[in-house]
Amino acid sequence: MRIRVLGSAAGGGLPQWNCGGPNSVRARAGDPDVPARTQPSLAISADGERWSLVNASPDVRQQLADFPGLHPRPGTRDLPLDSVVLTNADLDHVVGLLVLREALPYRVVSTAFVRDGLLDHNACFRLIEPAWGTVALDEPFSLDRKGELEAKLFPVPGKVPGWLGGLATNHPGATTGLRVTDLRSGRRLVYAPGLRELDAGTRAELAAADLRFVDGTFWTADELLAMRPGAPDARAMGHVPISGPDGSLAALSGLPGRSFYVHVNNTNPILDRASPEAARVREAGVEIAEDGAELEL
Ligand code: MLT
Ligand code: MN
Repeated sequence: MRIRVLGSAAGGGLPQWNCGGPNSVRARAGDPDVPARTQPSLAISADGERWSLVNASPDVRQQLADFPGLHPRPGTRDLPLDSVVLTNADLDHVVGLLVLREALPYRVVSTAFVRDGLLDHNACFRLIEPAWGTVALDEPFSLDRKGELEAKLFPVPGKVPGWLGGLATNHPGATTGLRVTDLRSGRRLVYAPGLRELDAGTRAELAAADLRFVDGTFWTADELLAMRPGAPDARAMGHVPISGPDGSLAALSGLPGRSFYVHVNNTNPILDRASPEAARVREAGVEIAEDGAELEL
């Protein structure tokens, strides 16, 4: 299985258009310790020929332009894109579907909660409806056309997307992690960009993976408050912080295989490669995903 990190920042990216925080200022200035990042998404392939996307970020147009593996065949409109899987209905994971609307040579897969929330309340997403199938939680499906990559969406503790507030109540299908198993090798990847807490089921999924991409939104629970008065804390936004005894770093350190933080918010000090917080992540054996990184599993 081949993997490309299309975008490693949380919603807003780095720099974020309205943000004058230290990471955004340094990224804007081209500081090599704080590289710019696009919004969160992953591309996965069984053979390096055809690819699937995990989530469709608002930056998908640029992410595809930067990745020759997902360019159309010259002289045609053939695009080597099999599936777009959605892990929740947050705007940073789904707005890209509207960018991919000119044709539907791919299929979209999500839970019914995610599809129905988007279609019932945002008429523009009906453009994508013909390509959109749903799966039950934990129901296996093929990510790729050849059936070599078996996927499933598993429930994780999460939240209702902000834009659905007052329109829907939280549901096990609202926030999911994606597990992809390469049936040829048995090797397993997990992508979980939104985790409110690490319950037993989530911990078991993370422990059983050989490669994991995990919610790295916030270093501390209250860091957004420092930038934006009145902001909710991390868990209220559906994100377990990295640091602290109940944080994700304690849970990830010591797991076998490789662990990467993704969906890193522009307030997070780990975005500065030279920060003590980034050093603590590295010392715990966890990596910070970079846009454009390619891995093999
Ligand atoms: C999140 O990850 O919590 C959301 O992207 C936040 C948002 O919708 O602004
Ligand atoms: Mn997000």
